[in-house]
Amino acid sequence: MKASITLAKEFKTGDIDPRLYGSFIEHLGRAVYGGIYDPSHPTADEDGLRLDVIDLVKELNVPLVRYPGGNFVSGYNWEDGVGPVEKRPKRLDLAWGTTEPNTFGTNEFMKWCKKANAECMMAVNLGTRGADEARNLVEYMNHKGNSAWADLRRSHGFEEPWGVKLWCLGNEMDGAWQMGAKTAVDYGKLANEASKMMKWTDGSIETVLCGSSSRNSPTFGEWEAQALDIAYDSVDYVSLHQYYENRADDTPSFLAKTLELEEFIYSVICVCDYIKAKKRSKKTINLSFDEWNVWYHSDNAPYERWSYSPPRLEDIYNFEDALLTGSMLITLLRHADRIKIACLAQLVNVIAPIFTETGGRIFRQTIFYPFEHLSNYGRGAALKPIIKCPKYDCRQFCDVPYIESIATYDEEREELAIFLVNKSLDEAADIEIKLLDLDGFTPFEFISMDGYDKKAVNGFGSEKVAPHLNPIPEADGAVINLHTKAFSWNVLRLKKQ
Ligand code: AHR
Repeated sequence: MKASITLAKEFKTGDIDPRLYGSFIEHLGRAVYGGIYDPSHPTADEDGLRLDVIDLVKELNVPLVRYPGGNFVSGYNWEDGVGPVEKRPKRLDLAWGTTEPNTFGTNEFMKWCKKANAECMMAVNLGTRGADEARNLVEYMNHKGNSAWADLRRSHGFEEPWGVKLWCLGNEMDGAWQMGAKTAVDYGKLANEASKMMKWTDGSIETVLCGSSSRNSPTFGEWEAQALDIAYDSVDYVSLHQYYENRADDTPSFLAKTLELEEFIYSVICVCDYIKAKKRSKKTINLSFDEWNVWYHSDNAPYERWSYSPPRLEDIYNFEDALLTGSMLITLLRHADRIKIACLAQLVNVIAPIFTETGGRIFRQTIFYPFEHLSNYGRGAALKPIIKCPKYDCRQFCDVPYIESIATYDEEREELAIFLVNKSLDEAADIEIKLLDLDGFTPFEFISMDGYDKKAVNGFGSEKVAPHLNPIPEADGAVINLHTKAFSWNVLRLKKQ
């Protein structure tokens, strides 16, 4: 097929907030125990943190990690996870039917963040607990002076405050599966009070209001409007969560899901701006897409109820999942003006790009690579290209463009990067790339992932689904001819000469 892409600096949709490349660690399955924390592992450091995991997290260049849940947080007593380990209680986690030993808690996670070069996005429990426990946690984490909670932190060996800037006001509070689920009005009131008190404790923090648990949730739309109507002045972001699946083994529809994602994002922006208009407010609420990924491969995997960190949600990702996750992140970047935070859910073992053996090996899943490319090369400003390409119809969608793409322009590094998915199962694409006001930019690297069976996966000792380098495409002045293989992920990097 033939296609064209036109690009200009003027096509900027927004500056990319680095926090768009965030991820998520929940006390769930082997994300913490056997994942980031595994004292018996040969690479474990003095804090029991796996350095092989930290190395891969650094490869992903993740600047922000959400913690400790997820559904888990809605029953979590943060006080259980601080202080002397031997005194910490074992608790039943009703979210995932396991026992939480609390060996690893908030301070351990903050140490991990420092070592992984990431900031923490901390979630508070607004399910079984409330505003009081939330503001106490802010005081424990962030207060410099002497106060009961700050002094408790000191007595635990942490003289300096952690200075956590970003806080989630609960998690998926509309969902019946959530401990302490609420109506939008009840949640709006609680989130408003919690956020006010948390910000009175530390005026430098930002808070995220829970949106609906997905676009398919029956509460979607009205929930955001009602909760925001109440909490608009005290919060900064509203959250979005979305996972996709390919149960019907309908790959064209699966890869077309980004059309739905686009609608979802646009709708949430509209709801935020509707409340802004209604309130005649000068303040804009931005979006925190703090859970997104493919999730379905591991459904119904058996586990022993009330056991400690059993394998849960251990999806093994295939090549088509890599193409969809790349397309999802491209879609988020198209809205870089309003999406300021996003978290690939999750980071290690649990629906994750990094997979470990407890006490043993590690590998990069297929979805690791598109994220790695975007996070490392997709900085600066997002440029939304004009794409002309053939379209297809499938069972769930019509008029799906075969080519999905975003470009990023890093003024400081004088680099341009074009990220592109060719969704056709069988047709290569010859793409004419026209650069309008980007004189002197010449390609210096062309990376792709292609030629794999759509169901191909990676495993321990076999990362066969991985990117490779290609010959640099020819450029004729401001026109570059890029040949992309059928069913491929592509990254073209250019530098100003
Ligand atoms: O990421 C897994 C789970 O998905 C999270 O705990 C929850 O927030 C969502 O439903």
